Amino acid sequence: MRKPIIAGNWKMFKLLGEAVDTALALKPYVANANHCEVVIAPVFTALKMVADRLEGSNIQVAAQNCAIQGEFGAHTGEVTPGMLKDIGCSYVIIGHSERRQFYCESDVAVNKKTKAAVEAGLNAIVCVGESLTEREGGEAESVVKTQLRGSLAGLTVSDMERIIIAYEPVWAIGTGKTATPEQAQEMHGHIRRTIAGTHGEATAENVRVLYGGSVKPENIGTLMAQPDIDGALVGGASLDADSFARIVNYK
Ligand code: 13P
Repeated sequence: MRKPIIAGNWKMFKLLGEAVDTALALKPYVANANHCEVVIAPVFTALKMVADRLEGSNIQVAAQNCAIQGEFGAHTGEVTPGMLKDIGCSYVIIGHSERRQFYCESDVAVNKKTKAAVEAGLNAIVCVGESLTEREGGEAESVVKTQLRGSLAGLTVSDMERIIIAYEPVWAIGTGKTATPEQAQEMHGHIRRTIAGTHGEATAENVRVLYGGSVKPENIGTLMAQPDIDGALVGGASLDADSFARIVNYK
């Protein structure tokens, strides 16, 4: 059985005080959520304090990015996955479409970051997803397959135990346009088949595949009813404790 994950990606929002307040407000709302893992991803500057304040709770903390290097070194502005683990993170989001689009992150970079994250003992949420043009051109499945193969290249079957895939169609992010549960299910099935090809049936069966793109309290239920949707990566609707809690408590 794959335990669902409901993760909130706070992107570049919230000053430190607001981040801590939101995390603390969320705590009692999700204290009884045993049906899924609950993860929040604040900005770098809030990670340590949020992680400290959530210690002992059932909310885990994720970073939104990490360096491609696992070792200390002269890399101005970068943060190793080991440093994230050190301050209490257990997850890191890698290769979000905003990073691929606006920060030129390639599958090769995503692959290096993923390897460094796994080596540091973090769980990596690796994001894939096609643009609207790619979907309209009938290329959605081939684009996602290429992203997956590139991002997961060289990872062993045992490394894959720390990998979570997030399917986030770019056209559904922040637009209010969710993929229909059928569209999402179709792609999640494709993702699982691709992983069966690269890492075998057992890995494909166990890997959790999250959906992201305009997930709201109103649509989480129908998405989660799909057999290959194992949770959600939530942007806008995760910024408010009450709305995120309603998504976590979809059951
Ligand atoms: P929205 O939920 O705001 O569409 O964002 C999705 C996302 O990018 C999560 O990583």
